Amino acid sequence: MPILLILITLLLPWLIKKYVFNHNPPKNQPPSPPKLPVIGNLHQLSALIHRALQTIGAKHGPVMLLHFGSKPVLVIQSADAAAQFLKDHDLVFSDKPHTSSTRRLMHYRKDVIIAPYGEYWRKMKSICVLQLLSNKRVGSFKFIREEETDLMLEKIGACCLSGSAVDLSQLFDLHSNNVICRASFGRRFGEGESGRRFTKALRELFQLMTNVEIGEFVPWLSWISRVNGFYGRVEKVREELDEFLEMVVEEHISKGLESGSDVNKNNENFVDILLKDSSIDRDGIKAILLDMLAGGTDTTSSTLEWAMTELIRNPTARMKLQTEVREIVQDRHVITDDDLGKMQYLKAVIKETLRLHAPVSLLGRVTREDITVMGYDISANTWVLVNTWAIGRDPASWDQPEMFHPERFLNSSLDFKGLDFKFVPFGHGRRGCPGIALAIASVEVVLANLMHKFEWKLPMGAKCEDLDVMEQPGVNLHRKNPLIVVPTPIGT
Ligand code: HEM
Repeated sequence: MPILLILITLLLPWLIKKYVFNHNPPKNQPPSPPKLPVIGNLHQLSALIHRALQTIGAKHGPVMLLHFGSKPVLVIQSADAAAQFLKDHDLVFSDKPHTSSTRRLMHYRKDVIIAPYGEYWRKMKSICVLQLLSNKRVGSFKFIREEETDLMLEKIGACCLSGSAVDLSQLFDLHSNNVICRASFGRRFGEGESGRRFTKALRELFQLMTNVEIGEFVPWLSWISRVNGFYGRVEKVREELDEFLEMVVEEHISKGLESGSDVNKNNENFVDILLKDSSIDRDGIKAILLDMLAGGTDTTSSTLEWAMTELIRNPTARMKLQTEVREIVQDRHVITDDDLGKMQYLKAVIKETLRLHAPVSLLGRVTREDITVMGYDISANTWVLVNTWAIGRDPASWDQPEMFHPERFLNSSLDFKGLDFKFVPFGHGRRGCPGIALAIASVEVVLANLMHKFEWKLPMGAKCEDLDVMEQPGVNLHRKNPLIVVPTPIGT
């Protein structure tokens, strides 16, 4: 009897919603795998959502409708379908999914990444592009990328001297963090005790942002997310990051007061520029700064991590890249932009890395109105997930898709602009990534230097081809295990 009562209590809201309020379901919906009452298809997801979706899609096709609780989620997993939905209807698909915890973490959508499509988002995005991410600005941060790369090379050099292995994952994290912090905030923040707390909080943010929590999708089960500590973790990270961002903002305000704004005029950085704009409030400033960290650090370090993983696993590609870099740079120490411009194989290696290991494996969208595409009726407010990871490995788009073969990008017109949906690591259209130039400039200079100055092998005589490629769940796909390698300086 008590069990029956509990069951009725649990199922009642779902039954009411399904049979009382839902009289007019759209006519022709995409195929859906069978779902359970209340939780929908949530039980079919795993921590690595992109992989779970690929598995479900193998049975139900490249376009399917799942339900996260009662939330309809359209999943698209082929280049052709993605083009028909997103390319032809970019405006309808230009909102972003959000949950109560992402809203809380991202200052109630006052940022860019999950801001609702509209005037505010347009203004914030154009500030990011003009003041931080344009080709001109990215060019002006060249000295930062070079200094940070030199610092990394010094650390690797020190490991060579002591004969010890180096944790490249950690070095890439620090490098990306330092580049973004120096470019946007004017100084590094990743070191020391407070730096460690800040980077730990950022890592936790990346984990929390993709957690598919039942309480987010079945509101009357939100007590589960309270009891299992999820909401507590969200609150703790929010407070820690807020404390950090407050400190950054205060530091810039007091610097401005001390020196007088005129003195600073030629020495402004991104935070100073945001502070001068009276139409952006304090929360908006913190939200946009958090976006730069959330959008720019982990994605770039994950690209470096996977590029080095694949180069170590694939000695032929590594030797080809080393030969290219060394022929162009010869025995000069500094690698110039001019050198990088000539490195066609390097560019192909980066593209191939992003095809196989797109850091953002799922592009998220929300429909702004009812729409019919490919004969399917999609309701307004449907979440849309485009599985770029699965598309990057789809045999319909790629020959031998599981193979790391940078040559496929040589003499090819495929670029990062997101025009061809078989390769969209930076997304597409209005909501596409504004940070491509900064990301690629950072990745190129690091990889070229690592190939120019060192030979690489795995510790304890492990075979290169045995290096694992296990992924860690999170908003950006990282290696599960840190990339530990043994460097030897070239010429020894
Ligand atoms: C390899 C590095 C990077 C990758 C792979 C990457 C990928 C992406 C992807 C896939 C999106 C979503 C696009 C869509 O939904 O169509 C995105 C959005 C975004 N990225 Fe990046 N990104 C990278 C680096 C950066 C950097 C360096 C920054 C800035 C410092 C940045 C800032 C942003 C912002 C602000 C958005 C939101 C754009 C909007 O909603 O309008 N990203 N990125």
